[in-house]
Amino acid sequence: MKLLDLYAKLKKDINVIEKELERSIDVDHPLLRDASLHLLKAGGKRIRPVFVLLGGKFGTYDLERIKHVAVPLELIHMASLVHDDVIDDASTRRGQLTVRSKWDNRIAMYTGDYIFAKALSIVTKLANPAIHQIMSKALVEMSIGEMEQIRFFYHTEQTVRDYLLRIKRKTALLLAISCQLGAMAAEAPDRTAKLLYKFGYFTGMAYQVRDDLLDLCGTEKELGKPPGSDIKQGNITIPVIFALQNPELRPDLLQELARIQACDGQTDVSRFLDMIRQSEGISRAEALASKYIDKAIGVLQELPDIQAKKDLVGIAHFVGNRTY
Ligand code: IPE
Ligand code: IPE
Ligand code: MG
Ligand code: MG
Repeated sequence: MKLLDLYAKLKKDINVIEKELERSIDVDHPLLRDASLHLLKAGGKRIRPVFVLLGGKFGTYDLERIKHVAVPLELIHMASLVHDDVIDDASTRRGQLTVRSKWDNRIAMYTGDYIFAKALSIVTKLANPAIHQIMSKALVEMSIGEMEQIRFFYHTEQTVRDYLLRIKRKTALLLAISCQLGAMAAEAPDRTAKLLYKFGYFTGMAYQVRDDLLDLCGTEKELGKPPGSDIKQGNITIPVIFALQNPELRPDLLQELARIQACDGQTDVSRFLDMIRQSEGISRAEALASKYIDKAIGVLQELPDIQAKKDLVGIAHFVGNRTY
């Protein structure tokens, strides 16, 4: 099933969120507004607000309340992307110029800060400190995850565990709390919110593993950015960690990695990509993503059989196979 078909049932509410997103950044300062709107208008899958809405369906669904979580979570994601593109020197995102390349790095840093601040001002409209605490804790973890990613650049001895902890922080937690906070904003039972958190966490792990696979195997057209961006940055992802475990491949791979590092990533990485694509690193990473998706779907068993549950299963399958 396509993501758009899954979203069809939520279309009316997603349109409300979309308008609120636009409204939330549409004041204050023309340059901050233009730079933020540029990324917003470039699209994106909006998976975090969709998780919030679906989480909300397990409680007393009131869009007027739930939107105060859905909008900030997409804004936090957007802000992290604007900053991430500075760190990664990325020129394109979502098939468009990044904020840093349309304007410059300094403007991108302030734009990210601005979007973060907007997220905070919206979530405080909900007078539930537990929601604020969960969100700020996840933000702290995300920052740690990004720092850890830098620390592990070109680190060929890193373990699968190092990688998993890093992607938990940088990606999975935000998806986990999207589901959880949707349920909390709708005053769903604690147990429900907890299970939804787990669903979001497992789906989030699969999400980043797929993202890392795509960066190695996707085309520029599919990705909205050139493939191989991760390794040019020094970011060693799970298919590469698995490929390095093959003693026959390891020496050549290490040599190629050393060459890329010596060029500071400013080099052709097609040989590296070929080596990884032909290795079992790809199928092992695909199997890992599927394992997380199975776990995510397993968690839902305990929840009531409402339409939202079917939609979450559909999204989990989409994530497990996603090509964009
Ligand atoms: C990109 O996130 C960064 C990751 C956490 C993998 P998305 O793939 O959700 O990006 P958009 O919002 O759809 O562009
Ligand atoms: C996700 O990681 C970035 C954040 C969680 C902020 P990536 O670096 O893999 O995201 P892309 O590939 O640039 O979208
Ligand atoms: Mg990046
Ligand atoms: Mg990526």
